[in-house]
Parts: sequence; structure tokens; C-alpha cells
Amino acid sequence: MVVTVGTCLLVAFGSTAAETNKSDPMTLKEAFKNDFLVGAAINLDQIYGRDSKGVPIIETQFNSISPENVLKWEVVHPKPDKFDFAASDAYVNFGERNHMAIIGHTLIWHSQTPAWVFEDVNGKPLDRQSLLNRMSNHIFTVVGRYKGRIKGWDVVNEALAEDGTLRESNWKKIIGDDFVEKAFEFAQAADPNAELYYNDFALENEAKRNGAIALIKKLQKQGVKITGVGLQGHYLLTEPGLKQVDETISTIAALGVKVMITELDVNVLPSPARAFLGADVSQRYEARAGLNPYTNGLPDSVQQQLARRYAGLFSIFLKHRGDISRVTFWGVSDGDSWLNDWPVRGRTSYPLLFDRNHAPKPAFHAVIESAVDTQASTSSGGELVEKAGAHKN
Ligand code: G3I
Repeated sequence: MVVTVGTCLLVAFGSTAAETNKSDPMTLKEAFKNDFLVGAAINLDQIYGRDSKGVPIIETQFNSISPENVLKWEVVHPKPDKFDFAASDAYVNFGERNHMAIIGHTLIWHSQTPAWVFEDVNGKPLDRQSLLNRMSNHIFTVVGRYKGRIKGWDVVNEALAEDGTLRESNWKKIIGDDFVEKAFEFAQAADPNAELYYNDFALENEAKRNGAIALIKKLQKQGVKITGVGLQGHYLLTEPGLKQVDETISTIAALGVKVMITELDVNVLPSPARAFLGADVSQRYEARAGLNPYTNGLPDSVQQQLARRYAGLFSIFLKHRGDISRVTFWGVSDGDSWLNDWPVRGRTSYPLLFDRNHAPKPAFHAVIESAVDTQASTSSGGELVEKAGAHKN
């Protein structure tokens, strides 16, 4: 089959289960135009146009972008009296040039935040009021700069521990549990029209999800604006089960907030420890035999497994298309992915829809096909049904 990607025509590899019944060249953003935005996290080379193969894919396939790193505190506010907006300005300009929904990631996170943020001039822990002042200054400066241009912000990122309690971060230790609502209040004041999100990983796990639900309800009860919840979607080939993903979207949407899949990828590599879900950047493991099995390419059987996994996930996203406003992939091509370096450094990972040569993978076709199938089913008056066997993946 032939698929239009970027400015060139690519002939996809042999006929596979995931490639059947597709006659029309179609892009991701066209395929889901009646369902949700489709985004990609973009890196510095893409922001500055140096990635000559990646940029045309971003411009052609996606209608939303997220900054993989350039709006994190350590990049944009490296020193107490120094903000650096060079890369983030270029990022926002990229999105505006391409008429995309531009996402801000992230304002308050325990990671990628310099140590000085939590210390006074003598290197001693800051007091609550001084840290609140620092948080307020950061949020007003960063959100204020892009007021009316950035559509929505991951205001607070990964505040929850795996048991659903608030993580013992410096934000919590110094300010207290209300650091979350304070961050949302500052963000709302800085740009009253921006969408404001809580973003986290592994909310498919019940204990953590319950913690998120309690957190969102607390904000709502206090009258604090929260527009949506980002499920990061750093998934494995078999976990979480589609039923878990389905239930998670339903329960979060029932709170009356938008649901977004904000950092989607599927890790096909072996887990160094008992299969774990998530994206805790502090979790690291040494390389050892067997952990990097596909250095010469992904075997077709795994390629097909990945395609089926993506098809299953998108069948769930489409089922919830009334509640899901955006699905964003965490990167463009396999070579870009953070999963080449986490949780084991230097692996060859295959988590995305485009391969290292920027060609669409069977998973790309499977995702497009899920949209085509849904349109066909809806327009023929049929119920949206999940693909046979989808729950097995
Ligand atoms: O920019 C420096 C560069 O100057 C230096 O030479 C190089 C040497 O290692 O490091 C570069 O910074 C790296 C940065 O990515 C840009 O490539 C950092 O070391 C590295 O830690 C950082 O990793 C990012 C990670 O967040 C931590 O910020 C990943 O790219 C990014 O994909 C990942 O994204 C997070 C989300 O923000 C939140 N959810 C989980 C997700 C995956 O971890």
C-alpha cells in the first residue's frame, strides 16, 4: 500500500494484518479530525528545523505539539534572576506557523527543577511563603509570556506517588499539600482563558487513580479551575490491560473534566525489573544481557504485536472520543524516543509510529485503520465495536 507522509510518497512494507483494507492515503490528523487532536512532543532539533525528516512529518501528521523539554523549569528559568525563552519562543512560533494547538509542559514538577528553587541564599531550605512567591513569579512570567498563544498547560506534573498519596516532593515538604491548588490558582490568574491540566503516569493503577480522583474533587470543591487530566500513556505491550485503560478514562471523565492522552508510547523492550508501568525518570537500571534484544531491527512478530496493541488502544480512545480531547505521542520517530535511554541507557527502542528512517510502521497503519473502521461503523449506523481480540493485547 501507499501512504502519504510529509512531502513524499512511501511504499510501506509487505502486506500485513495491520495493513489491510486501507485504500486512501490519510494522515493522523485527518483520520481523527472528528474525534480528537493528535499531537507529538517535539525536541530542539525539530523546533529549530534541523531535523529535516522529522519536521515534515510533524507538519503533515499532527495538529498539536507539546514541548518535550523546552518549557521545563531548568530550561526556561535556570537561575533565580534569569529566564531563557529562546527555545520556548521558537517552539511557540513553530506551532503558530503551522496553526497547531500548542501545549505548555510543565509548570510545577519535582523533576528537572533546579536545586536553588527550594533554597535560600545560604543554601538552606526555603520557607513556605518564599517558595510560594517563587512559584508565583515563575508561573506569572512563563504563562504570562504566552498568554493567548499556549492553549493549555500541564500545571502540575506527577504530584502523586504510586499509592495515591501526594509524593514527598520539595513542593509538598515546604509548601504543604495545598501547593497543587496554589499552582492552579496562579496559572488561572496568569492566563484566565488557558486550559489547565493535571498530568501523571500510571493512573491506570487503581490506588494511584483513586488518589488523582480525590485530588481533582478537592480542587473542584474549592472552586479551583481544572480543565482536564492528562493520562501520560507510557504503556507496555501487555500492560495496562485495555479494560484498565477504558475504566480509567471513564472514571476520570465522570468528574466532568476533559481527558487527554498526553505522552503516548508503547515500550516493546524487556522490563529490567518485574513489569512496571510508568515513567519515573529517577528509576534507572544497569544494562545487562537480554535487555537490548533488537539492535538489528524489530522482528516482524513483535512489529505486528505493537500494531495490534496500538489498534486496541485506539479502539478504546475512539470509544471515548466524546471525552478525549487530544492524543499526543511522546516523540515522532523511534530514534527520538526517551525510551532509548530509560530505564536502561543506550537501548534500541521501537515505541512510536515512525521508524528510525521516518517511515510509517505497521502500527501507524493500524492506528489509521482504527479511525477508518470507526467512521465506517458510525456512518452505517452501527455501534462502535472493539476489534476482535483487542482485549488480548
Ligand atoms: O540538554 C542537555 C544537553 O545539554 C546535555 O548535553 C545532555 C547530556 O545528557 O543532556 C541534555 O538534557 C537531557 C534532556 O532530556 C534533553 O535531551 C537530560 O539529560 C535528560 O534527562 C532529559 O530527559 C527528558 C526527561 O523527561 C527529563 O526531563 C526526556 O527527554 C523527556 O522525554 C522526558 O519527558 C518526561 C515528561 O516530561 C514527563 N513525563 C515523563 C516523560 C518521560 O520521562
